Amino acid sequence: TTLLAGAAHAQDYPNKLITVIVPFAAGGPTDTVARLVGQSMSKSLGQQVIIENVGGAGGTLGAARVAKAAPDGYTVLLHHIGQATSVALYRKLPYDTLNDFAPVGLITDVPMTFVAKSAFPAKDLKELVAYAQANKDKVSYANAGVGSASHLCGMLFMTAIKAELTTVPYKGTGPAMNDLLGGQVDFMCDQTTNTTSQIKGGKIKVYGVTTKTRVPSLNEVPTMDEAGLPGFEVAVWHGLYAPKGTPQPVIAKLTKALQEALKDPNVVTRFAELGTEPVSPDRATPEALGKHLKAEIDKWSPIIKAAGVYAD
Ligand code: MLT
Repeated sequence: TTLLAGAAHAQDYPNKLITVIVPFAAGGPTDTVARLVGQSMSKSLGQQVIIENVGGAGGTLGAARVAKAAPDGYTVLLHHIGQATSVALYRKLPYDTLNDFAPVGLITDVPMTFVAKSAFPAKDLKELVAYAQANKDKVSYANAGVGSASHLCGMLFMTAIKAELTTVPYKGTGPAMNDLLGGQVDFMCDQTTNTTSQIKGGKIKVYGVTTKTRVPSLNEVPTMDEAGLPGFEVAVWHGLYAPKGTPQPVIAKLTKALQEALKDPNVVTRFAELGTEPVSPDRATPEALGKHLKAEIDKWSPIIKAAGVYAD
């Protein structure tokens, strides 16, 4: 009977609103991606898609919420590279990253930018590095907690410049940006989905993008390579997950709605304005996300262990 029930349930799915858990505070880059994609998915699913921000512990609290949610397709997780890095960063995660989720598909790879408060006394990356090294105990670096993308980028930066800086954790880089704009924190590495408008508005300083090639919508910003930190590369990939055990026909409907959202002209245009683009349709699949997640865990775990960074 459970099988039948599962199949029947999948038949008329979705017949009520769907909640997308964003594991960071509202107004940040993950929230921005989720609202754009969620809005578009609701059109093709014919049901409301709401965003619930569950911040804390670098995104792992929100992930835990979905790992424990009913496997019925009405609670899903939109998360990024932190889903992979948290495996090495947290020795006691309250879920099993590779077995407690049902992947739906990859969404987008977002570049990162090194940005500072407008009064920061460095005119380029070389000066920022020199200033940070000379003022280790004074300079403050904002991130969204251990496991966030800004934390990962900061870890790579501090390892590269051999200087441990004061970090100020927030529930997301949305709130962190407010303090950067107010000058309460010195600098951070954050995604173009959150920094582009402030950079274009001249409200913060930008020193580099963390991608191999320049970002078209920020084409005057040098890559980290050009700016003096060769080989510094990190892009924030995002995926959509349901809880393990969600019926396959439900996953298929979510995957289809995601793929349609990634072709939605409104999504494509807004992503481009924010420095990013949807993944190709073949990557917006359960198999592609599952494979990528595993590969990213294998890639980042040794780097994190070598840096000796842990959350718990
Ligand atoms: C956010 O949405 O606030 C960011 O993803 C935080 C981060 O990962 O740096």
